[in-house]
Parts: sequence; structure tokens; C-alpha cells
Amino acid sequence: MNGQTFIFGKPVEGEFFTDREAETKRLVSNFKGGISTFLLSPRRWGKTSLIQKVMKEVQSDYLKVVFVDVFKCKSPIEFAETVASAVLSQTASKTEEFIENAKSFLGRINLGVNLSPDPLSSFDLKLGLSDDNADISNALSVPERIASKKNVKIVVCIDEFQQISEFPEAIAFQKELRTIWQHQKNVTYCLFGSKKHMMESLFNTNEKAFFKFADIIYLKTIPLNYWQDFITRKFEIAGKRITPHQIEQICETVQYHSSYVQQLCWYVFLESSDEVTTDDINVGIEELICQNTPLFETWTENLSAYQMRLLTAVADGIHDGLSSADVIRRYRLVSSANVVAVKKSLLDRNLIYTDDKRIYLTDPIMGMWLRR
Ligand SMILES: Nc1ncnc2c1ncn2[C@@H]1O[C@H](COP(=O)(O)OP(=O)(O)OP(=O)(O)O)[C@@H](O)[C@H]1O
Ligand SMILES: [Mg+2]
Repeated sequence: MNGQTFIFGKPVEGEFFTDREAETKRLVSNFKGGISTFLLSPRRWGKTSLIQKVMKEVQSDYLKVVFVDVFKCKSPIEFAETVASAVLSQTASKTEEFIENAKSFLGRINLGVNLSPDPLSSFDLKLGLSDDNADISNALSVPERIASKKNVKIVVCIDEFQQISEFPEAIAFQKELRTIWQHQKNVTYCLFGSKKHMMESLFNTNEKAFFKFADIIYLKTIPLNYWQDFITRKFEIAGKRITPHQIEQICETVQYHSSYVQQLCWYVFLESSDEVTTDDINVGIEELICQNTPLFETWTENLSAYQMRLLTAVADGIHDGLSSADVIRRYRLVSSANVVAVKKSLLDRNLIYTDDKRIYLTDPIMGMWLRR
């Protein structure tokens, strides 16, 4: 593929994809068994790549898998419309069928205006629905009605699902969604997103709208042995040699963050001659930090001094006890009440995440950047 050896920052497939065997199996059986799923991981660990692989594997005449990204949706109606049009277009075999179904299921829609010439490949169709509750629930019922009409099962995969927690009247809408979805007999949902904290806030406790709605999968990092096979082969094909130990060093440096593993490998690959040296790896790490610096600057430009200090504390390796007197004094965080508030604001910005009550930076390279 374009002579590139490693790919990062966008979904990957084929020779650029490794492992995910257990997750693939579990998703395949959920999709086939009609079990809805939540899939969570920090950003760029490989959610979209995994889902797209599973989609290809299970897609059949009886089971239609639809993929929709709701990142740009700002309100319930936009969400309902985006999901409905994705289902309409991706289950239709030709444009005429799409139009006919859209008209028969959604009635007074305004199809002419934004219909792209190639609806089957476009996820962005605007159906021109009005912002009232009847239109919203009508649009949300489209997947089930299509499934019944075509006598198929449908899985709707919704990327960036955490977006719905930012809608106006978010809670009421979430409850409505759940009610409608759980009555659908022929449709299941695979909901995924990278904002762990926001995703969890949808299903974590009793009162939450999606409590016990779905099987929850936390994506893990890809283990060393898979990376070793994958990376060794990539170098070998180009006539270069990298040792298993060097690969381990690369993976450890980026804490097994999938996208950064491939990105760092790419810089090391560019830098190296026949045999990878320690210097090549160090140059690669510098390049990785340098390339990502503008991004980290954007993420941190509006942070308060307290938010920066707390981030620095985590970057320095403090993962718990941030409210202890010692840490508060050392990082000038004032009080434990302040730590709680600052922590919450950083969680909301997705700059940190918690795992087993311990706090981590969402981005491992940002940690290296902060320590400088
Ligand atoms: N199974 C995999 N094997 C090898 N590399 C992978 C794999 N999955 C992801 N990656 C690496 O991670 C990068 C990001 O993958 P992907 O876009 O699927 O992640 P994501 O979790 O959906 O990201 P985002 O949070 O931005 O939506 C890929 O470009 C690739 O470098
Ligand atoms: Mg993604």
C-alpha cells in the first residue's frame, strides 16, 4: 500500500493489522447472537480497525452490519437522522431502493436536497427531518422496520457514541434510546468510543440509561509477541534487522499504545540502515515527540496552572494518592477538594483516565512531553 511500511492514526486492515483474536471472536459471537456490545478504549488503540474487521467477517445475506460515525452529531435529531440514513443506505442494494425505503419509512422527508450521487457509500445523508419527538422516534425505529421488511438481522455499529452525552437534554434522550432499542427484536447495537469516562457514565450505575444494556468489552493493548512477529516481518521484508529486545523497548516506550507503536516503528525504520541501532530508536523517539508537540500544545493551551500541575504529577508516575498531603504540597495543588475538582475537569477533557482507581495519562507520549 503506497510503499508504506507502517500505518498510524487511521483504521488499518490486512497486513497492517495484527492480533485482536480474542476480541474478534467475542464480537463475532455477539453480532451473530444478537447481543449488543459496548467497546471501550483510549483513543487510537484500534477500535475502528477491529470493528471494521469483524464487520467484514460476519456480513452476510441474513446479517447486515451497518457502520456509522456520530462524531459530528450535536442533537438527538441529528443522531437519529444519521443512524437512520446509514441503515437505509447500507442495507439498500441500489439508490432506488434507498429512496423508496426512506420515503415509505419516514414519509415527509426532504430527500431531493442533500441526496449525494452515491448514497450507498455516503454516511452523511441529510433526511431533512424536523426536530420533534415523533420524527426522532420514527427515525430511530427505521433499523427494526428495515430488518423486518428485508427479513434480516441488523447490527448497527456506532462510532464515537459518547457524543450523545453532550446533547441538549441528554439524559431524557438516552432513556428514550434505550427504551426504543431494547424493544427491537431484529437489531442489535455495537456502541464504541474513546472517551472512557464519558462512555462509562452512560452505563455504570443503576440510574444510568444503559445500565446492563450490553456486553462491555474493554479493549486491551496488543501483547508483545504479536508486535514482535509483526514488526520483525515488516523490517525483514525491507532487508533490515531489528531485535526482539529493541521491539520490546519500542513497545514499552509508548506503553503499547497501538498507533504509537506503528508511528515510532516508522521513524525508526526511516532512520535505520541494515541493522537497527540504539541511536536509531532514540532518534525515532525524539521525532515522535516532536511530531506530536503541536497536538499536545493544543490540548493544554487552555489549562489552568492546577490542571497542568496535576497532569505533571501523573506524568511523573504518581497514579494514586494524589490527594495526599505530600503530593498536594509538592505539586502546589492547595487542597484535596481542589484535587478532586481538577481531576474531574481533566477526566472530562479526556486527558486522564482511571483504571482500578489509579490515574493515567490518556496519551503516553504527552507524558514524555510534559516531563521535559
Ligand atoms: N490490530 C491492530 N494491529 C496493528 N496496529 C493497529 C491495530 N489496531 C490499531 N492499530 C494502530 O492504531 C492506529 C489507530 O487505529 P484505529 O483508528 O482503529 O483506532 P481507534 O481506537 O478507532 O482510534 P480513535 O480513538 O481515533 O477512533 C492504526 O493506524 C494502527 O497504527
Ligand atoms: Mg476510531
